[in-house]
Amino acid sequence: QVVILDYGSQYTQLITRRVREVEVYSILLPGDATFKRVFEENKPTAIILSGGPNSVHVKGAPSVPDGFWEECEKRQIPVLGICYGMQLIVHCLGGKVEGLGKGEFGRMPVVDIPTHTKLFGEDIEPQNVWMSHGDEATVLPDGFKCIGKSEQGCVVAIEHETKNLFGLQYHPEVTHSEKGMRTLKHFLFNIAKCERSWSMANVLEEQIQIVKEKVGETNHVICALSGGVDSCVAATLVHRAIGDRLHCCFVDNGLLRYKEAERVMVMFKNELHLPVDCVDITEKMLSELKGVSDPERKRKIIGKEFIECFKEYKKTVEKKTGVVPKFLVQGTLYPDVIESCPPPGSDQKHSHTIKSHHNVGGLPKELGFELIEPLRVLFKDEVRRLGKIMDVPRNFVARHPFPGPGLAVRILGDVTENNALETLRLVDEIYINAIKEFGLYDEIWQAFAVHLPIKSVGVQGDQRSHSHVVGLRAITSNDGMTADWYPFEPKFLQEVSNRITNQVRAVNRVVYDITSKPPSTIEWE
Ligand code: XMP
Repeated sequence: QVVILDYGSQYTQLITRRVREVEVYSILLPGDATFKRVFEENKPTAIILSGGPNSVHVKGAPSVPDGFWEECEKRQIPVLGICYGMQLIVHCLGGKVEGLGKGEFGRMPVVDIPTHTKLFGEDIEPQNVWMSHGDEATVLPDGFKCIGKSEQGCVVAIEHETKNLFGLQYHPEVTHSEKGMRTLKHFLFNIAKCERSWSMANVLEEQIQIVKEKVGETNHVICALSGGVDSCVAATLVHRAIGDRLHCCFVDNGLLRYKEAERVMVMFKNELHLPVDCVDITEKMLSELKGVSDPERKRKIIGKEFIECFKEYKKTVEKKTGVVPKFLVQGTLYPDVIESCPPPGSDQKHSHTIKSHHNVGGLPKELGFELIEPLRVLFKDEVRRLGKIMDVPRNFVARHPFPGPGLAVRILGDVTENNALETLRLVDEIYINAIKEFGLYDEIWQAFAVHLPIKSVGVQGDQRSHSHVVGLRAITSNDGMTADWYPFEPKFLQEVSNRITNQVRAVNRVVYDITSKPPSTIEWE
């Protein structure tokens, strides 16, 4: 497998994905992972050092563990440094990196590629790449040669004459780098001799085996199905492993979309062919949420109600089978477990990208479950591919994500007031149907409406009205960690706004959210 050491670049996850896209398994470790973790626990066939926002010559800048270079040489592990990673190679092995104050940012050509290089192979013509650096390598360490320059004359590609050490000042992993993928592939297959063994079929087989071994012959397992892609794929996989010792429950918490519970229960039965119990806790949930406006309190209350519901479901399964279920399936994904480098300026070391609200507060611990997380190693698009090979219906696989606390985080203020839930359900239904009708659903990563706690003046049917404002949001993203707003055609927005204000009496104004993440988040609460 390929180990990628993360020095905090915004593209680090992308490197991991690119490597996996060519069917080589790659994992991301924090830049200061210990020697033992890098070499003994992960046994890399190649190592990539990522980019990052620091300067290698500044005191305290992150580096590789002691003994790293010697070990790579001893085990003949090829190393590719990208951006900061290349500067680390230069700095650590005796060269010089300096901040010359000019920097190079954006698309630009790499020139002066020699005819014979190990890293570029046949690709000796100038190529446009994506550059983003302030420092540059001014003196190369012994044994290294320059194999590419920028137009300004900076060294932007290096390799060692005899050892398999390589550096690129630019980002081969981004699509703006024309031949970046070819260079990466050349590094992986021709230099590091990686094997193409990472396929979803292998992952499936391996994970089924792991679940079988973990659960054993008699234990029972619980899974909360939400109707979203992650839990459906996780449940389908576990069902393949242990059959009907898996018990799924769908919780109607009263905060779901228009006819959601009805619709997904039919889909579970007819399309997913999994036995699912529907538990309706609407009444209790809404009574607990009454009068609550603070977003964090809402989440806590919802989490607590979920736990209560699970305690009951645990008993139900015990009554039905005579066995106390010991395991809980969760659809945790790889981006939730990656220990990324903290953003510059943050005092949090290795802030997990996981958000506390993504796991229903303390659920497994409080209930004494052991966790089964068969998707822990996968990115969202890989989960979709895994779902596809298990014949999980497209209806599930291609669904937009929906947050656990549901419409509660899309109604700003008290969810029980002003018929907000009903209003939002109608607006959301009209909006999503229009997106589907215009053929945009698959292009958009997530779309939804938000109910705002303000009223505005309007004219409806020749009369002054004082009604609610709703916000529409649609974003493109890879994994929900960063996002951009979707540029709808004005015609679409016009049509949707017309439909909403004509069909939903309680709304007289529609606004469209044009903020990316960061600085916003995707949800409004
Ligand atoms: P944010 O709003 O944090 O959302 O940018 C990123 C992604 O996560 C979803 N989300 C949640 N999912 N429980 C969930 O299961 C939550 O509490 C939660 N909050 C946000 C959000 O819909 C988006 O896809």
